[in-house]
Amino acid sequence: METFHTIINRRSIRKYKFKKIEDEKINLLLKAAMYAPSAMNLQPWHFIVINSESVLNEIVKSIPHAEMIKQSGNAILVCGDSSLEKNESWLIQNCSAAVQNILLTAYDMQLGSCWIAVHGMPDVVNNVVRQFSLPSNIIPIALIAFGYPEEEVKTEERFRLDKIHYNKW
Ligand SMILES: Cc1cc2nc3c(=O)[nH]c(=O)nc-3n(C[C@H](O)[C@H](O)[C@H](O)COP(=O)(O)O)c2cc1C
Repeated sequence: METFHTIINRRSIRKYKFKKIEDEKINLLLKAAMYAPSAMNLQPWHFIVINSESVLNEIVKSIPHAEMIKQSGNAILVCGDSSLEKNESWLIQNCSAAVQNILLTAYDMQLGSCWIAVHGMPDVVNNVVRQFSLPSNIIPIALIAFGYPEEEVKTEERFRLDKIHYNKW
């Protein structure tokens, strides 16, 4: 039940100690991402690791609601390759599974993380495409802030019987 414990206890962390994460740890996060399920196992994702202070400062101009990454000092931009996965819905679902694997693995490594919206916000998507000179087939899906947590977040009970349906609505 270790996985269950991680799923239940992972929380979005928005306050961080500014500290670089070692490359080996970042590679574990990326490995976890690459083991996510993907339709027809196309693995249509790319990851931009962001840990340079100047790029972090720039990205806050592209994604104004990503201020927390100036504190976390580390972020990963998860992108989908629309030339590999032509079904946009599946592209987003595949990349979202990769994002969740990163969030859960970060928690396992005693790191905090937070999913920051990119896809679905056209102005933000355009800014990110411009900032990173993304090729036309590369679609930014989400930014993940991660780092050493400076807060502990608890949550309410979320298990709700009224959300569950057996055999019919
Ligand atoms: C698609 C998506 C977009 C999100 N975007 C943001 C965001 O831009 N900023 C933020 O602080 N949190 C963002 N979150 C995190 C949610 O706010 C968070 O998951 C939710 O409040 C539940 O809290 P928990 O992650 O601690 O369980 C996003 C989550 C998802 C799935």
